[in-house]
Amino acid sequence: MPSFMKFAVSALAAAGTAYAECTVSGTSTIQNQGDATALASCSTFSGSIAIATGTAEDINISGVKAISGNLVATDNSAIRRIGASDLETLGGDLSLSGLTRLTGLDFPKLKKVRALKWTALPNLAEIGFTAQVEQADAIDIQNTGLKSLTGINIQQAKTIKVANNQYINEIKMQLGNVSTSLDFSDNNKALQVELTNLIWASNLTFRSCGSVSLPSLEKLNGSLGLYNNAFESFAAPNLTEVGEALAIIGNDQLKNVSFPLVTKINDDLRMANNTALMSVEGLPLLKSVGGAFDISGNMSKVATPKLDTVKGAFNIQSSDNVTDSCPFYQNLKNKKLIQGAFLCKGKLENPSTEGTKPKEQGGSQQGAASTLSAMNGALGLAAMAAVFLI
Ligand SMILES: *[C@@H]1O[C@H](CO)[C@@H](O)[C@H](O)[C@H]1NC(C)=O
Ligand SMILES: *[C@@H]1O[C@H](CO)[C@@H](O)[C@H](O)[C@H]1NC(C)=O
Ligand SMILES: *[C@@H]1O[C@H](CO)[C@@H](O)[C@H](O)[C@H]1NC(C)=O
Ligand SMILES: *[C@@H]1O[C@H](CO)[C@@H](O)[C@H](O)[C@H]1NC(C)=O
Ligand SMILES: *[C@@H]1O[C@H](CO)[C@@H](O)[C@H](O)[C@H]1NC(C)=O
Ligand SMILES: *[C@@H]1O[C@H](CO)[C@@H](O)[C@H](O)[C@H]1NC(C)=O
Ligand SMILES: *[C@@H]1O[C@H](CO)[C@@H](O)[C@H](O)[C@H]1NC(C)=O
Ligand SMILES: *[C@@H]1O[C@H](CO)[C@@H](O)[C@H](O)[C@H]1NC(C)=O
Ligand SMILES: *[C@@H]1O[C@H](CO)[C@@H](O)[C@H](O)[C@H]1NC(C)=O
Repeated sequence: MPSFMKFAVSALAAAGTAYAECTVSGTSTIQNQGDATALASCSTFSGSIAIATGTAEDINISGVKAISGNLVATDNSAIRRIGASDLETLGGDLSLSGLTRLTGLDFPKLKKVRALKWTALPNLAEIGFTAQVEQADAIDIQNTGLKSLTGINIQQAKTIKVANNQYINEIKMQLGNVSTSLDFSDNNKALQVELTNLIWASNLTFRSCGSVSLPSLEKLNGSLGLYNNAFESFAAPNLTEVGEALAIIGNDQLKNVSFPLVTKINDDLRMANNTALMSVEGLPLLKSVGGAFDISGNMSKVATPKLDTVKGAFNIQSSDNVTDSCPFYQNLKNKKLIQGAFLCKGKLENPSTEGTKPKEQGGSQQGAASTLSAMNGALGLAAMAAVFLI
């Protein structure tokens, strides 16, 4: 037993076999391959393992099938490969950050981890999870050189964040649900997202994606945010309800949005800076909006024929003529079915979001539409602010 690690070994089978459980309180630190090899008799390891910052050689932990804690490597500019050839289960996190030379991860049998937390791995192009990780509560992958997420194929998660990975151009997973949040932001601009089996989620954020396909999505407990994406159309063909807000902002090639089954948006409906969006007719069954209804842009038509409740403010501002669209909404306002401030106006020079002062083309500035009077209490306001700030 090397002196760097003092762990208790309890033989689970007859003495002399390799089946042993090793226990450390806290973390064992590996300095070199010799230390890693010393763990080979531990088929299960209770505790965490860290790879020392100064480790200069590749590390391959073999023999260990389960680690109860974390496997961590941080701020190491020499190590090129990290692996655990027999590891099937990691009870804690596979936490890798600031490994500037890392090119390989060799975990051919890994199926289950609590979390993957990876940042600043600029030379890691592929994930060597041959057996595919199918269970993880949390995934946070940022600033890596990964070209795909092949090897990660989880069915459900609490949080998933994949951001600023400039080479990832495809994400496909069997993912069925995400209970807290999923955020794919600022990866390769051509990123194709295909979440064919995703049925429900909380907050979904897609920023700077090339395409997003969510054919099975039925329910969102939280918000859907689409920001600065490059797609020309977006559809959520099976979505019926949005638990919080629906925000579609700055998608400058977007021509068509389609939410054929959505009846209810519990917080705000926001569309702005979608330069090419000329008509908003993709919410044919929308009946109620719990926050503000706020659409601005170059549209010539906005139609939501089933709408009969807007709890917050109402704003349509367009550079084009929306004279034919407004009477429907004016009628709702007259009947007090729109509860907040009301503005529906076309031929504006600077069509903008709710609360801004519109300026008529060749004309003068009008009074401000309203403040954000819509929101019911601080919680709503915070949620809405967050939708805009993320
Ligand atoms: C790690 O070590 C095991 C056992 O010696 C070996 O079978 C495996 O090929 C090694 N993996 C790598 C990536 O070197
Ligand atoms: C989440 O999705 C997985 C995979 O489709 C499924 O097995 C599981 O039952 C789902 N959980 C809930 C609560 O819907
Ligand atoms: C859409 O929802 C219906 C009803 O829940 C379901 O039968 C159908 O398979 C769903 N479509 C997709 C593509 O998931
Ligand atoms: C979200 O909605 C799904 C489907 O209706 C439900 O099973 C789940 O418990 C909800 N999750 C949260 C966090 O509210
Ligand atoms: C969605 O995100 C917002 C902002 O971060 C947060 O306030 C809200 O609670 C989230 N909703 C859910 C259902 O997780
Ligand atoms: C918008 O997309 C929906 C669903 O994909 C489609 O049915 C509809 O024809 C499209 N509308 C236009 C104007 O392209
Ligand atoms: C739309 O774009 C303008 C100009 O870039 C910016 O000032 C404004 O904040 C954007 N609106 C939203 C809702 O993001
Ligand atoms: C309207 O279209 C013009 C020309 O494409 C663009 O410059 C402008 O930003 C658009 N306005 C809005 C509010 O999207
Ligand atoms: C806008 O369209 C309406 C009806 O289609 C028309 O009567 C009106 O003159 C148009 N307004 C402008 C400023 O072009």
